[in-house]
Amino acid sequence: MTTFNYQSLIREVPDFPKPGILFYDITTLLKDPAALRNLTEDLTARYQPRRIAKVIGIESRGFIFGGILAARLGAGFVPVRKPGKLPADCYEVKYSLEYGSNSLAIHRDAVQIGERVLIVDDLLATGGTAEATVNLVRQLGGEIVGLDFLVELKSLKGRERLAGYDVHSTILYP
Ligand code: PRP
Ligand code: MG
Repeated sequence: MTTFNYQSLIREVPDFPKPGILFYDITTLLKDPAALRNLTEDLTARYQPRRIAKVIGIESRGFIFGGILAARLGAGFVPVRKPGKLPADCYEVKYSLEYGSNSLAIHRDAVQIGERVLIVDDLLATGGTAEATVNLVRQLGGEIVGLDFLVELKSLKGRERLAGYDVHSTILYP
């Protein structure tokens, strides 16, 4: 593990996408070659011993880290997407948002029973998105080895919805 200061590379944008929301913009970290390389090395070192067969990336920003990490781990990559995007037979789960609900989908043949999977996204906030993804992977019979996030907003207690799973975040906000 390196002691790279990733947090200093996150851009904080007030009132985006709506007034009152402070947006943590990861593009400023992604465009920094040294940060991207170090982050990739850190995550590869963490998960290499854990024999991951599939990395599940959550649309859309989870695709970026998930894809890189899958290739480095010698694992396959599986997208979890918003409804209507995946072309073949899917499982779908609904999850609630602050106002209303959304759903996520995964191809039914994306993970084999007992396969070791790692779920990856850019941000853990309320945990609704990650919890929905856990439910999708469980429907397929995958063994969830862990969940990895670039950023975690601890005050929103997303971890509590992922109790019993190994959850790691690189950057923690109170
Ligand atoms: C954001 C973020 C996570 C999710 C976290 O995605 O990228 O996926 O919210 O929130 P939660 O823990 O409260 O569920 P968003 O739904 O905005 O979509 P995007 O990644 O496609 O921009
Ligand atoms: Mg997202």
